Amino acid sequence: MFDIERFLEEKLNPVFRAHYALWVYWWPLWRSVSGRSILRKWEQVDLIQEGQTFLDYGCGTGDFTIPAARKVSGNGKVYALDYFPHQLKIVVERSEKEGLTNIETILSDSKTGLQDESVDVIWMCDVLHEIKERRTVLEELHRVLKKEGFLTIHDGMGEKTLDYTGDLFSLTERDNKFLKFAKII
Ligand SMILES: C[S@@+](CC[C@H](N)C(=O)[O-])C[C@H]1O[C@@H](n2cnc3c(N)ncnc32)[C@H](O)[C@@H]1O
Repeated sequence: MFDIERFLEEKLNPVFRAHYALWVYWWPLWRSVSGRSILRKWEQVDLIQEGQTFLDYGCGTGDFTIPAARKVSGNGKVYALDYFPHQLKIVVERSEKEGLTNIETILSDSKTGLQDESVDVIWMCDVLHEIKERRTVLEELHRVLKKEGFLTIHDGMGEKTLDYTGDLFSLTERDNKFLKFAKII
């Protein structure tokens, strides 16, 4: 559930505001460089197929939402979830500019509102370390992931990630910060 009190407490706090001002401006610049090698990894593992449903959890300003939407194409769907409304506003602007109509934004800090077992691929890039209620979020992701779907995490948490995925997901592939998990049924 989106926690408005926590949101206001954080976003009205000058330190958080400065942090996010930086994020909104410098992060897309950084991602335009760092994102290339991550997208190459997508290609290498053949992460997304046309027609699939993709959840970009903690999508930020959409640097992976947009390529995912192109990849799943018109008969696929991309859900872009973030708890910071400004990020989602940028995602909407970017998708309109790109003429993409298969992206839906979700404002939340944990719950997705999606149906059980409805998502083929879940992507979390540089998000897990920021989440306070990691287990709650991963339980939600387990609920919405299809039985044969994949959870993919790109994060610097390393081995610590496995402390949270535990009995929910099993690691099938690892390449430095990139971890691919299957759903434990
Ligand atoms: C470092 S940015 C990464 C953005 C994007 N995934 C990327 O790699 O370009 C982390 C994002 O996660 C979001 N975030 C942090 N905690 C979250 C939570 N509990 N639920 C949803 N989004 C969250 C932040 O608002 C921010 O947009």
